[in-house]
Amino acid sequence: MMKKRIAVIPGDGIGKEVADEGIKVMKKAAQLDGGIEFEFTSFPWGCEYYLEHGRMMDEDGIEQLKTFDAIYLGAVGYPGVPDHISLWDLLLKIRQEFNQYVNLRPIKLLDGVSCPLKNDKKENIDMLIIRENTEGEYAGAGDWLYKGKQEEVVLQTGVFSRKGTERIIRYAFEVAKRENKSLTSISKANALNYSMVFWDEVFEEISKEYPDVETYSYLVDAAAMHMIMDPARFEIVVTSNLFGDILTDLGAALAGGMGLAAGANINPERTFPSMFEPVHGSAPDIAGKGIANPLAAIWSVSQMLDFFGYEHIEKKILGTIEHLLKEGKFLTPDLGGNASTSEMGDRFIELYENM
Ligand SMILES: NC(=O)c1ccc[n+]([C@@H]2O[C@H](COP(=O)([O-])OP(=O)(O)OC[C@H]3O[C@@H](n4cnc5c(N)ncnc54)[C@H](O)[C@@H]3O)[C@@H](O)[C@H]2O)c1
Repeated sequence: MMKKRIAVIPGDGIGKEVADEGIKVMKKAAQLDGGIEFEFTSFPWGCEYYLEHGRMMDEDGIEQLKTFDAIYLGAVGYPGVPDHISLWDLLLKIRQEFNQYVNLRPIKLLDGVSCPLKNDKKENIDMLIIRENTEGEYAGAGDWLYKGKQEEVVLQTGVFSRKGTERIIRYAFEVAKRENKSLTSISKANALNYSMVFWDEVFEEISKEYPDVETYSYLVDAAAMHMIMDPARFEIVVTSNLFGDILTDLGAALAGGMGLAAGANINPERTFPSMFEPVHGSAPDIAGKGIANPLAAIWSVSQMLDFFGYEHIEKKILGTIEHLLKEGKFLTPDLGGNASTSEMGDRFIELYENM
C-alpha cells in the first residue's frame, strides 16, 4: 500500500466547488483500486485569505508544502484582489519554487463532446501541449520606471536560459519518442529576434539526439490558424510559457471548453512536489451557483495518478469521464445540461464503480 500525502489548496470561487469533486474521486479510486491511500491536508490560502491577512499564503507556505507528495489546486482569483497578485503570490510562486518546469496540458476531444469545428472528428483532436512553466515571458523580470509621470516606461523581459530551454525541449522529445508521435515546436523567431531565435536553435540542436522523432516548427500565429483549420497535424507540442498559456485555451475551446481542460505542473526530478489543477480560473460569473463543471478538476486527478505510476487508474478515470459525457444525462450547463456540480460528480462516482 502506497500512502500519498496531498496538500489541497481549493482557492477561490469555483476552485473550491470543483476541488471537492476531485477529492471524492481520489477517495473512491483508493477504495476501489487498492494499492494507494491518500492523506489530505487542506490549506485556506487564496484571495479571501489575502483580504484577511494581506498575503495569498502563509509566509512559510513553501516550506509547509515541501513535505507533501503532490499539491491539488482548485483555482485562485477574486474580484477586489488584483489578478497579478493572486497569480504571482501563489500559483507562479509554487511553480517556480518547486521547479515545476513542465506544464502538461492534454487537448483531447472525447466522445459525447461537441466540437465547434464543422465536421471534426475525435481522432483529429488529440494533442499534448508541453508548456515551459518557470521562465520565458512569465519570469517576472522587468521594471516600471517613472511610474505615474509623463516619461513612464515599463519593461517586461522574457528570460530564456540555456538550461531552462534545453530541459523543456528534451522532456518533450522524450515524450514524443516514448509515444512514437511527432513533435512540433511553436515559437516566433521572426519578431522575437533573440529569445525565439535561440529557442529554435536549441530545438534544432536537440532534435539531432532524436533522429527517429518527426519534427515540425511553426510560428505561433500560423500555429493558431492550423489548430483551427487542421488540428490533426499536432501530436506532441512544445512551446514557451506565454504561447502555451494562450494556445491551450484555444485548444480547450476545441475540446469542449474550460470545464474539460486539465493541467499538471511537473517537477520531473521529483525533488519537490508537483501540482495538479484544472486550467480554468475561479469563474466569478458562476461561483457559488453550484453549476461549475468538475471534469477538468477530475481529469487533473487522473494526471496525478499517472504521475504516481497508476496508469490503469488514469485510464479508468478518463474512460469514466468519456462514458459520462456520452451518456449525456448529468451534464452541467456549460455542456448543455442542467446538472449541478455535485450531481455530475456523484454520477461520475456511480459510473466509476461500474467501470
Ligand atoms: N489557475 C488559476 O487559478 C487561474 C487560471 C485562470 C484565471 N484565474 C483567475 O480566475 C479569475 C477569472 O478569470 P477568467 O474569467 O479569465 O477565467 P475563468 O477560467 O475563471 O472563466 C472563463 C469563462 O469560463 C467559464 N468557466 C471556467 N471554468 C468553468 C467550469 N469549470 N465550468 C463551467 N464554466 C467554466 C467561466 O464561467 C467564464 O465564463 C481571475 O481572477 C483570474 O486571474 C486563475
